[in-house]
Amino acid sequence: MKADQAPLPRILVLASGSGTNLQALIDASRERDYPGQIIAVGSNRPGAFALERAAQANIETFVVDHTKFQSREEFDAALMAEIRRHNPDVLVLAGFMRILTTDFVRAFRGIMLNIHPSLLPKYTGLNTHQRVLDAGDQIHGVSIHFVTEELDGGPVIAQAEVHVAPDDTAESLAEKVQEKEHILYPIVIRWFCEGRIHLGSDYVLFDGEPMAAPMRLPEN
Ligand code: GRF
Repeated sequence: MKADQAPLPRILVLASGSGTNLQALIDASRERDYPGQIIAVGSNRPGAFALERAAQANIETFVVDHTKFQSREEFDAALMAEIRRHNPDVLVLAGFMRILTTDFVRAFRGIMLNIHPSLLPKYTGLNTHQRVLDAGDQIHGVSIHFVTEELDGGPVIAQAEVHVAPDDTAESLAEKVQEKEHILYPIVIRWFCEGRIHLGSDYVLFDGEPMAAPMRLPEN
């Protein structure tokens, strides 16, 4: 960074699992013109491989282990304190498998993004790939949305579709969806860091205009 340049927006990532989305963001943020910097990665699971990925990239990590707390409120308060210490501009949930309290969600309203493996508003919650197969859907995909009080219900910023083939399984669908996730999340975080997307009352503003529908990643 040159002396006359403003510091890059500070990205904090929360992850509970393997962290392939985190890795995609680490890789993207290494590009010379990426407009944000990952300043820390936090997890509720001490053994999450995402922490390993962060450490390998020399990114600071922290753990707030949910099993050490009596209640969801106490866990969220501790997590909130840890996040505030890092003063992020954007809070990226990347496979963070905890339901957050209203206080937590309100505290980070407008700066918290989540990735969900379905074409929201279809299939909120878990086991989305199997539910898509059970319903016989031919199109599935991934959504990135602002986090609001409604679980997986915040305004959707962008989506990418995958085709469901007759021989697809929950595992093969998960793979196809993840491939799209790894492309789409770094793009949306780029837009956020560039100040192009904002959360309105219950809609997304893109370049200052309310979005009529989520952005769609063109196919291939
Ligand atoms: C992703 O499939 C995401 O959609 C969901 O959790 C998964 C996280 O995967 N919310 P990873 O830890 O980034 O590999």
